[in-house]
Amino acid sequence: MHFQKVVGVCLLAFASFAWADTPHYLWGPDRMGKMVKRAATSSKTTSKTTIKSSTTKVATSSSKKTTTTTAKSSSTTAKVSSSSTVASSSSSTSLVADSACTNGPLTRSCWSSGFSIATDFDQKHPTTGKTVSYNLEITNTTCNPDGNGDQQCLLVNNQLPGPVIRASWGDTLSITVTNNMQDNGTSMHWHGIRQLNSCGSDGVNGITECPIAPGQSKTYTFLCTQFGTSWYHSHFSSQYGMGVVGTIIIDGPASSNYDIDLGTFPVSDWYYADAYKVNEITLDNLQQQNPPPPSDTILVNGTNDNGSGGSYAKVTVTAGKKHRLRLINTSVDNFIRVKLDSHPFTVMTADFIPVKPLPGQDWVLLAIGQRYDVVFTANQTAGTYWFRAEVATDCYSASNGKGRALFTYSGQTVSAPTDSNETPPDTTCAELTTTPYWTQAVDQSTFTSQLETLNVDLDFPGVATNDQNVVLWALNTSTMKIAWDQPTLQMVYDKNTTYPAAYDVIEIPNEGVWTYWIIQQASTNPPPPHPIHLHGHDFFVLGSGSGTYSSSATLNFANPPRRDTSTLPSAGWLALAFQANNPGAWLMHCHIAWHISEGLGVQFLEAKNSINFPDMTQFGSQCSAWKSYAKTMPYKQDDSGL
Ligand code: C2O
Repeated sequence: MHFQKVVGVCLLAFASFAWADTPHYLWGPDRMGKMVKRAATSSKTTSKTTIKSSTTKVATSSSKKTTTTTAKSSSTTAKVSSSSTVASSSSSTSLVADSACTNGPLTRSCWSSGFSIATDFDQKHPTTGKTVSYNLEITNTTCNPDGNGDQQCLLVNNQLPGPVIRASWGDTLSITVTNNMQDNGTSMHWHGIRQLNSCGSDGVNGITECPIAPGQSKTYTFLCTQFGTSWYHSHFSSQYGMGVVGTIIIDGPASSNYDIDLGTFPVSDWYYADAYKVNEITLDNLQQQNPPPPSDTILVNGTNDNGSGGSYAKVTVTAGKKHRLRLINTSVDNFIRVKLDSHPFTVMTADFIPVKPLPGQDWVLLAIGQRYDVVFTANQTAGTYWFRAEVATDCYSASNGKGRALFTYSGQTVSAPTDSNETPPDTTCAELTTTPYWTQAVDQSTFTSQLETLNVDLDFPGVATNDQNVVLWALNTSTMKIAWDQPTLQMVYDKNTTYPAAYDVIEIPNEGVWTYWIIQQASTNPPPPHPIHLHGHDFFVLGSGSGTYSSSATLNFANPPRRDTSTLPSAGWLALAFQANNPGAWLMHCHIAWHISEGLGVQFLEAKNSINFPDMTQFGSQCSAWKSYAKTMPYKQDDSGL
């Protein structure tokens, strides 16, 4: 099927922009040496599990060897005082140091020699020398994820979501993306991946590459310095809303034990209309300060039953076992709350960051782009339980449908129980407060001198070519718009510093410095909270609040939440910090696809003289292919391009 972009209300109007020129502390010694883990006693260790999951898309693993302890004694109080040598001569200790600690159901905090849950992966990470390769092919096709009927979709390897990308901590991923759509460019972003010294693989067209033209491929190569759960998606306008999305698992240690890894479990809003069209309607609505259209349904792992067709995602759980579930909100516009009936979650990661386990979580709120890895125990009466995914109306999210999935105990027949349709709580969109497993302080000494405020506001760039005034979102007082064929990285490589004003470049010249940002929403705005996402880094969330930030606000420098996506509260502020430690050009933006399309972003140009550029010959050929395609492309750029 030939992809047709529906251009309904054509008031799109970036054309009239004026483009003009525009601009220590380490977390202390690694504590690996002191990390001492109790090995499991031999009587308890062998909960080796064979998993069968009836969901087709949930990868099951946990085939990793369970730990068999070498210690014989059941004495539990012995102390191993140091580092890398195991007290092997002692027969009275059941404790081993990290270097001898093997990852298993009862020792998830272990990993491999010298690395464990206590390793801050910004400071240190394994390098396995192994390369894991994938091929992703994007096509325009049709899909029918919830039974509503066939609609136009853009899919990765013809599935929704696309294939799970899986590697281990320290592996190199090499992923070849082929654009087999006829009439759309694309670029693939690996959300949350740090891209240490590999910003050319960040997948942001107009910043780190030209789009991949139809018929062309690009191979993204990067080292997995982090571990945990994430997702990938197109960064070509609102394209991922049509299905160009998939999930990522990087196996590594965990701060909570579990027997069975159920794999990724993305939840997403879904529209029966083509996402580009919904985007245009949203822009039209914004002119009257009206909200975007509600989504039509919520997909759970790419599927739902709309009442007249479709099917629920089905997951099999094993009685008595602890299960790890990797929750991801891959929506374009909606905050989503999830719960599994009668099975409270223990949250153990926030985005890629292991956190001090938070047990007893009933409904868990995920902003767009956020992840929580949770553990639950299958300790209820054997049967089938509802998994619920509902838009968070307290975050101004809206949907005509809700998401459901079925979790069934192994050996039981899948049979949907009566749905209580319980109302999710209203927390005024408050984000779960998480504490990183590693205690990390943020340098406070330069806060006052370095602090900068980025204002989120509506921008009135003027009269568009169709004579209509257009209202757009702006961050740092200007609406972002990149040119697909003029990526920032190329400009930096060419030593061309005439970044257009609409590139919203903020330079961070020196590595090592701490930078601090108040994202401040103007009180005159329509009030939606914005999920703010940073590329190339995690940030530390020093604080957030309603109203205008004041210097008397209490901020947490001692051990703040760390993650890559955090919520700017409605008509409020969000205080973020990150240390310059990764040269590159890094986008920071609202992850509501409509909002970044309408310009709500900036890019940090960090240590431009130290950037490790990708192969610029290959980079150049990708741009040439794009430029020649762009001469005749049917659908011109009509938004920020992001
Ligand atoms: Cu999911 Cu710009 O990112």
